[in-house]
This record gives sequence, C-alpha cells and structure tokens, in this order.
Amino acid sequence: MRRKDFLWGSATAAYQCEGAWNLDGKGEGEWDYFNHTSPLNINNVSGDVACDFYHHYKEDIDMLAAGGQNTFRFSISWARIMPEGRGRVNQQGIDFYNSVIDYCLEKGVVPNVTLFHYDLPLTLAEEGGWARREIVDDFTEYAKVCFKAFGDRVKIWVPINELRYYSYCSNMVGNYPPNHSLDFDRFFKTVYHEVLACAKAAIAYRKMGCDGQIGIVHDNSNVDLAPETKEKERIRIIANLFYNDLVLDTALKGTLPGNLIPFLQENGIDWSYIRFEDAVTFEKGKSDFLGLNVYNRMYLTDYSEGETEVFHNNRGAGSKKKEGIRIKNWFETTVDPTTKRNLWGREIYPQCMYDALMEIKNKYGDIPIYITENGHGMYEKADENGNVEDDERIDMMQGYIDKMLEAMDDGVDVRGYYAWSTMDLYSWINGFEKRYGFVRVDFDDDNKRYPKKSYYWFKKLIEDYQKGAE
Ligand code: BG6
Repeated sequence: MRRKDFLWGSATAAYQCEGAWNLDGKGEGEWDYFNHTSPLNINNVSGDVACDFYHHYKEDIDMLAAGGQNTFRFSISWARIMPEGRGRVNQQGIDFYNSVIDYCLEKGVVPNVTLFHYDLPLTLAEEGGWARREIVDDFTEYAKVCFKAFGDRVKIWVPINELRYYSYCSNMVGNYPPNHSLDFDRFFKTVYHEVLACAKAAIAYRKMGCDGQIGIVHDNSNVDLAPETKEKERIRIIANLFYNDLVLDTALKGTLPGNLIPFLQENGIDWSYIRFEDAVTFEKGKSDFLGLNVYNRMYLTDYSEGETEVFHNNRGAGSKKKEGIRIKNWFETTVDPTTKRNLWGREIYPQCMYDALMEIKNKYGDIPIYITENGHGMYEKADENGNVEDDERIDMMQGYIDKMLEAMDDGVDVRGYYAWSTMDLYSWINGFEKRYGFVRVDFDDDNKRYPKKSYYWFKKLIEDYQKGAE
C-alpha cells in the first residue's frame, strides 16, 4: 500500500470519554450503575463527565487532524442509541454520532467505529448480559440500526472491542461489572456469545449491501514461554485456547478451534451453549480484517502449586502487584527479569508487536491488520503552563512502532496504527490518574485540552513516514 494511504490515528471509547451519561435521551449503562453504586469502584470515580467529548468533539477532532492524523477510532454507546438495549431508537443519539462522523469527514479523518466497547445497557445487563444467548440477537439489531444510520459514511466497523479481555475482567478478575471471579463457565460462554454476535453482525452488514470492511479487535496475547518451562507444547496449546484461539480461529478462519469442546469437557467447564448449527454462522461471518490492541504478551511457565488465583493491579504505584494468573494444573504467568513493567504491573515489551504480527501471518495468512490500540499508561504532572513532557511514552511507543514497521518489511499486511488514546480519559477501574493521551485534559479546569510533547512527536513521525521512499 502507498505510504499516504496508511492510516495513522488515535483511539477512544464512548464510556471513557463522552460523559453526558444521562443527557439527550441516553439510557443508563451497566458502567453508570456500577460506578454509582459499587464498592468495587475503588477509586470512586465515574465516566459521568469523563473528558466531556460529548461537548468537545470538534476540538478533539480538530486537534487530531492538525496533528497529521488521518483516522480516528471511537465507539458508539449502545444505550445512547437504544436506551433500553432493544426496541426504541433514540434519535438524539443518532444525531450525535452523525455530527461526529460528519465532522471527521469534513476534516479528512477516516472514522473507525466500534459498536461495543464494554458498555452494556443496564437493562440487558440485568437480564444476564453476555451470558444469555438472546443478547446475540439484541446486539445484531443494534448493529443493524448503526449500519443503516452511519454505513453510508463509515467504512471500517468493529462489532466488539477485546472480546477476551472484557470477558476476563468481568468473569475471571471480577473488577469489571458484573464482577464474577474465576468463573470459567461464564468466561468461555461470554466469549462464545461475543464471537457469535460479531459473526452475525458481519452477516447482517453484508446482507444490507454495505460496502466497507467489518472486523474484530483482539487484545494481543501472544504466548511466550519462560526458558525453564517443562511442558512447553501442552502449555502453548492450553494457553492459546484460553487467550487467543476462540476469538481468532472463529473470526479469521470461520471455525471454532477443533480442540475447544474436548478441552472444556475434560476440564468440567460448561459447553452446553455451543450449538452445532452455529458453525454456518461462523463460516459466513468471518472478519475482513483483524484489529490488534498491542500492549503486552503472555509470558508463561508451568503451573507450580496452589489454587487458581488472579493477580491484578488497579491501584498503580500504591501496589506492588504484577498482572497475571495462576491456573491450577494448566499454567501460570511468570516474571521476565529483563523486561520493564509500568506502574500498574503490566509488561512493556515492544518485541511482542513483531512476534504477534508474524505469528498471526503464519497462522492465518495475509489478513489485513490494523493496530487498533497501543499506548502507555503513566502518572503525569503538568508544568505551570499546562504542558506535559511525556518522554517515557514517546520512547516506549517509538519502540513498538519500530517493531510494527519491521514486521511490515517482513511481509505483514498492516494498514493502520491507532495510539491509545487521543486525549486523556477515564481508565476503567484505574480512574483518571492513569493517563494515556497525546493531549492532556485538565479535569479540574473545565476539561481544557493541552497537547503533550508526544502529540508533536507523533505528528512528526507521521510526516516523516509519509515522506519516505515508496
Ligand atoms: C484496552 C481497552 O484494553 O486498554 C481500553 O480497549 C483501555 O479501553 C486500554 O483503556 C488501557 O487499559 P487501562 O485499563 O489501563 O485503561
């Protein structure tokens, strides 16, 4: 592809940036309810206002366009479009996203739109959310409303963001609503319903004659084994089933992983919801592209001892916990002493960008790929003029981008890169102090925006790339 056609941009998600949680007919969401009522909202914050993208969207799009970005990834709030999750459509919600999309196009910015980024309408959550098969049809109806309203102008669609990670946090870690812990039944069932919903949405999209591309976004979880690991082959198989295959095989090959049902049976995990007739849906509903959110890899070794336990750090510098899991008789995560971690205990490992891209090419062939997220969470302090010198973010992201370009040189069909995030926003359970944006938001002073050093660095990187030899 020509250099000027490569998409360089940044990403957000509705709940994390919009605010306006109960304005203009929006229905209540599961996250609204959770953050307003649950003691598990440990930092006692919410997306009620967030960075108020709802009222600042022009400024944000102006700024990203002025920064040389030619694409913007954002998500639609299901409850803003369908306040009860199904049935009635809220015209004011449609109007809002029409304005955002039209403004992107006016500024020469390609919209890349996700339909579900963790924020379920409360009514559907109360009925059982993604654990109920009926949600697949509800989601497809919602997707169709969006395709009809916006499909003439939006040409890159993602039904669901990070199917696996969302289910992991909601059903294994228990930090995201509905807060189930170590519930393997619900974990696999949720991912299954999500992949089915993605396939059905893709089928509906094509049936409606829409002429764009529809894909999925997966949280990169390429498996690396510590050198001392004894049961390398066995762990690789199990870990890939747990982290990757149910999403990737189903979306990219159009078939469930062949070893999924025997594995669930052997481990006493519920698989009663898997219907053989779904095979046709998976086959017809394959993704046109893969969106990959690249932050880290899964660094694993043999299970040692003890009960299954998950380790997660939403307290940042206030905690020494490292992200990970020990699953009895399967495997456990381990620490690579040569690799840095951020203050929330997550690995910073640029090489995983290259390794993951090559592994996907080897396993799934030449599928078009977008890096739909990559970024670095940090605590930040502004100087007296409101500016932030985020050199650490720049170094880290440059490392990942270099590895992406290396993989492209080695034949991987990457078509775009989105930094997480366009501006500072709400970071789920972590609150607002874990910042990712290219643009600082002063949450205490009317959500004023100030471009950071990384914003200018990214602008120059894009310019230099576009000037490079074809
Ligand atoms: C991705 C999500 O998992 O990572 C984003 O798609 C999220 O929504 C981002 O914000 C960073 O994670 P966190 O938990 O640090 O905000």
